[in-house]
Amino acid sequence: MCGIVGYIGKREAYPILIQGLHRLEYRGYDSSGVAMISTKGELNIYKSKGKVDALEHYASDKDLSGTIGIAHTRWATHGEPNDTNAHPHYSQSKRLALVHNGTIENYTVLKVALLKHGYTFVSETDTEVVVQLIEYIRDTNHCSLFDAVKEATRQIVGAYAIAVIDKENPDQIIVARQSSPLVIGVGEDEYFIASDATPIIEYTNKVVYLNDGEVAIVNRGEPLHVFDAQGESKDCIDITELRMSIEELEKGGYPHFMLKEIFEQPKTLADCISGRISSDGKRVVLSGVVMNKEKFLNAHRIIIAACGTSWHAGLIGKHLIEDFCRIPVEVEYASEFRYRNPVVTEHDILIALSQSGETADTLAALELAKKKGAFVFGICNVIGSSIPRATHSGCYIHVGPEIGVASTKAFTGQVTVLAMLALLVGQMKGTVSDETLHRVASDLRRVPKLIKDIFKMDSQIQDLAKIFTYAHNFLYLGRGYNYPAALEGALKLKEISYIHAEGYPAAEMKHGTIALIDNEMPTVVIAIKDNVYEKTVSNIQQVKARGGRVLAIVTEGDEIVSKMADYIIEVPEIAECLTPLLTSIPLQLLAYYIAVIKGRNVDQPRNLAKSVTVE
Ligand code: AGP
Ligand code: GLU
Repeated sequence: MCGIVGYIGKREAYPILIQGLHRLEYRGYDSSGVAMISTKGELNIYKSKGKVDALEHYASDKDLSGTIGIAHTRWATHGEPNDTNAHPHYSQSKRLALVHNGTIENYTVLKVALLKHGYTFVSETDTEVVVQLIEYIRDTNHCSLFDAVKEATRQIVGAYAIAVIDKENPDQIIVARQSSPLVIGVGEDEYFIASDATPIIEYTNKVVYLNDGEVAIVNRGEPLHVFDAQGESKDCIDITELRMSIEELEKGGYPHFMLKEIFEQPKTLADCISGRISSDGKRVVLSGVVMNKEKFLNAHRIIIAACGTSWHAGLIGKHLIEDFCRIPVEVEYASEFRYRNPVVTEHDILIALSQSGETADTLAALELAKKKGAFVFGICNVIGSSIPRATHSGCYIHVGPEIGVASTKAFTGQVTVLAMLALLVGQMKGTVSDETLHRVASDLRRVPKLIKDIFKMDSQIQDLAKIFTYAHNFLYLGRGYNYPAALEGALKLKEISYIHAEGYPAAEMKHGTIALIDNEMPTVVIAIKDNVYEKTVSNIQQVKARGGRVLAIVTEGDEIVSKMADYIIEVPEIAECLTPLLTSIPLQLLAYYIAVIKGRNVDQPRNLAKSVTVE
């Protein structure tokens, strides 16, 4: 996602645009830009890679006059974060300027057609195709900007919120949306446009939320004109009066970014899967893998290097890849790998797994492996970050900016991409049957809905959190695919509540850790119906026999564990290899609610940073 801001009215636009970009920077921050029609009638675009501060510095000596403008802070999806790919984008004639939030799925087809019509492109973005298409339609059909935007939105496929201005008409902004949000603030003889109400609320609390398919004409000093998906003018425009504070708005109404990001997961996983699993569930496509098919077919070993939560996702990736691809996988703490003088050859693939793409140890590990001849593949979230730029290839998890220091949606995004990679490589190697791929890929497409089902237990999990805030130590147990989920659940709890928590393989407990069990230390056990369910049941009995209290994560309808555990949380049934995508959700919520009850700084826990760029 990204941040769009626009203004038309009686005030100087630039200060409003820049302040608005700062307010939206949490939505995406790899580059930003502004476009204004100056008092001399020039259409000036200033844009810069980096944060909004970099833009302000760059624009400081420029002509910033004008009472109409649009602005954008980018979360790149197509094209590296750099000055050229930053928004706004000019049309070919430099008469139009456009900003866009979203992804255009058919941009290559449209780009080829426009190139044939003599259009040239300066950026790698999908967005530039939109502004060129609008100009092409307007010049070809000799129509208004509004009609050209309407026709263009009929031709583009994908998610968009766009705002476009025309140098020849400084009294109008045209906006349109499909799947990406756009809000119009209604002031006194002035209008504000933004991706959400955060940049608007300090000027007016009256807003119009544009609906999918709608196009609006925002004319200076005139009433708003909104047209529905059928092109009909809306006689009645709903104006909402906002009651929220700015800070609440940035978090989408949630008290913390972490809770917002937990609840975003149905959408972020749908975005992560979008365009990668066919609607019939029979095909999986990851372009970075397809383009390096021979590397994956000939790999003798795959090394996954990561840190923290990403290392836990890597452990699940090991299970998935060994299960489906029959390629040996080693999961390495990047910090250990980089200093150990590891044996690495040209027959190895190293997967660098990192949400931020900036973790120093992970970056160093991939550089070491690359030097030793390995093929290095990145799986990251932040586009254009250091790790994707250092790898031979890779793929992004596309879950949007993760602001909370405790990783949640990035974890499930990483596991989802690893599952798709394992299925795809397994199919390439012939170690995954079409039936298995169809079954697992179809289940993967169900995950967003199943996570929504788990959210129905939110209040139950809040109640459980109240019971456990007394604890000073927790034990998290799991087996197989859910041993890493137990590790991740323990990390979530300790890093935001400051309660010590240890994740452990359930079977390993009897080799020492069981000495810790007493009624002062709760044990969380992931006991879903998998191939070791009966073994896990006996582990629960061992804990109960020593006076331990057990919170069990079980498969819906479980009738055995639910009779022996003190508390249970049910998760829907799904292919065993995908269960961590579900079992991790209640553990994220449990950690969050315990930390909130304990009054912790959930989004910025003590001693931690979102991205550990130091050794
Ligand atoms: C997870 O909640 C922590 N924030 C931390 O362990 C994190 O996963 C680790 O620092 C790795 O970060 P990365 O994924 O950005 O490389
Ligand atoms: N797809 C566009 C790009 O990559 C917009 C991304 C965004 O929403 O910030 O530039």
